[in-house]
Amino acid sequence: MYLSRSAEWSALESHYQETRHQAMVDLFGTDPERHERFSLSLDAIHLDYSKNRITTRTMELLMELVRRSEIEKKRAEMFDGEQINFTERRSVLHTALRRPPGYSMTIDGDDVASEVADVLGQMKAFCGKVISGEWVGYTSKRITDVVNIGIGGSDLGPYMVTEALKPFAHGKLRVHFVSNVDGSHLAETLRGLKPETTLFIIASKTFTTQETLANAMSARAWFLDEARGLAHVAKHFVAVSTNREKVEEFGIDPANMFRFWDWVGGRYSLWSAIGLSIALYLGFERFTELLAGANAMDEHFLDAPLEQNMPVILAMLGVWYNNFFGAHSQAIIPYDQYLHRFPAYLQQLDMESNGKRVDRAGLETDYATGPVIWGEPGTNAQHAFFQLLHQGTQIIPVDFIVSLKNQNPMGEHHDMLVANCLAQSEALMRGKSEAEARAELEAAGLSGGDLEKLLPHKLFPGNRPTNTIVLDELNPFNLGSLIALYEHKVFVQGVVWNINSFDQWGVELGKQLAKAILPEFESDESVEGHDASTNALVNRYRQFRKGQPPPMRDQLTIF
Ligand code: F6P
Repeated sequence: MYLSRSAEWSALESHYQETRHQAMVDLFGTDPERHERFSLSLDAIHLDYSKNRITTRTMELLMELVRRSEIEKKRAEMFDGEQINFTERRSVLHTALRRPPGYSMTIDGDDVASEVADVLGQMKAFCGKVISGEWVGYTSKRITDVVNIGIGGSDLGPYMVTEALKPFAHGKLRVHFVSNVDGSHLAETLRGLKPETTLFIIASKTFTTQETLANAMSARAWFLDEARGLAHVAKHFVAVSTNREKVEEFGIDPANMFRFWDWVGGRYSLWSAIGLSIALYLGFERFTELLAGANAMDEHFLDAPLEQNMPVILAMLGVWYNNFFGAHSQAIIPYDQYLHRFPAYLQQLDMESNGKRVDRAGLETDYATGPVIWGEPGTNAQHAFFQLLHQGTQIIPVDFIVSLKNQNPMGEHHDMLVANCLAQSEALMRGKSEAEARAELEAAGLSGGDLEKLLPHKLFPGNRPTNTIVLDELNPFNLGSLIALYEHKVFVQGVVWNINSFDQWGVELGKQLAKAILPEFESDESVEGHDASTNALVNRYRQFRKGQPPPMRDQLTIF
């Protein structure tokens, strides 16, 4: 039966109508056990979800809804390698990348466990050589800088992880990420780097992505401009891809290619050889700790009862707000500067996965699916957009993420950071009543008309939901678990909404049209084939371009 007409959905709708004015402060007031009831720990990760607009009954009804979606069956299908990405006829097996060896599974004739182990072995050997200095560049100098060229899943995950785990880097290599086709990204990254000590990783699942290939070509031109010999490319360019043919076509020696498989989705690929930049920067051992942390979350997701299952709980709270409160946006606020790329990483993970408007049967949904994911680290975010979270007209559920241990203990800094994080979730929940605001204004010496005028501006409605995720420490293992937590949350929501979370057809149209527009810039004639707006914009750029010298392009002729 269609999701929004199911008995489980209707029960939640009625429950929402009955409870929507319930205040969390009152629920805390009447239930001293509320924190214990609505919190959960797994190894070094603690999830406090008690500051949500829920009761025990809400959670029961949400669990009935997730059961209705046959989540256990769907979960098993994913882990067992069934082709759950049916629009691309692919299995979804990123979990196999972090599974300890010794299991048996065959996909498209590949023995998954041994293929994964082989590539991990290749990565380990390569990292050992580069980090130790055994691998040298064309002038026999050791590599000092690694530049990962990729975009989307071939950039966001590795970039986020290397930023998050900076304190765990061995310090022998610097790592850089170039993703944007805007030449400024590459130019600014290469400024200050030396071709003889730079290693490029061209990371692209398909090896057909326009941005990555353009950046790779220009990087190669920059390299050869100094190295002057195609034979030197082999020491400075490696590829991570599923597409051996295209890698060879580009001129990279297949011996320097690290493969992965089409059963690894781009946004789920940091666990594969796409994580080579992570392994180089942290050392291979640390990379395996990251994998182990993710595997620990996989096992929890597989084994824990739904009621005590972290990804399931987070997912269903998201469904509760998105589908019943009409809260279509979700903020992620890490109180950890090292996690500054985490919200951006989650944007792709969540929005590319669940930004779908037709269900598995191809029918348009009459319910909301993936929310808008956004965020910035605290405390910075407090001084930017928290005004809206506290007093704006929308309800925006927030996930706060904070660690007990700070990697850079410095005076009272960490105490202040943690105090701010905890205070924000308390403030969002409690709000400030008219009586409280009035008393404060009176204490400040205000009265009469002045007080009444100011009073409405000083009120906080409160009752705004948050989760707080507390890590003992942000280290490779715990980060692996945290990422896998969100991966599985997104999966569960996709199952409930009955959508395919693993394709991304929505990115195609823009790519197609960009390909059509690109040659039009060369046209001598005015371009007329689009709508009036696009024609005018194309022609405006065409005109500008006529007067400009051709940039960089000459350099590419050395090939
Ligand atoms: O444009 C979207 C996308 O296909 C993502 O799903 C993917 O992570 C990214 O492009 C990069 O793709 P590739 O790794 O094949 O270059």
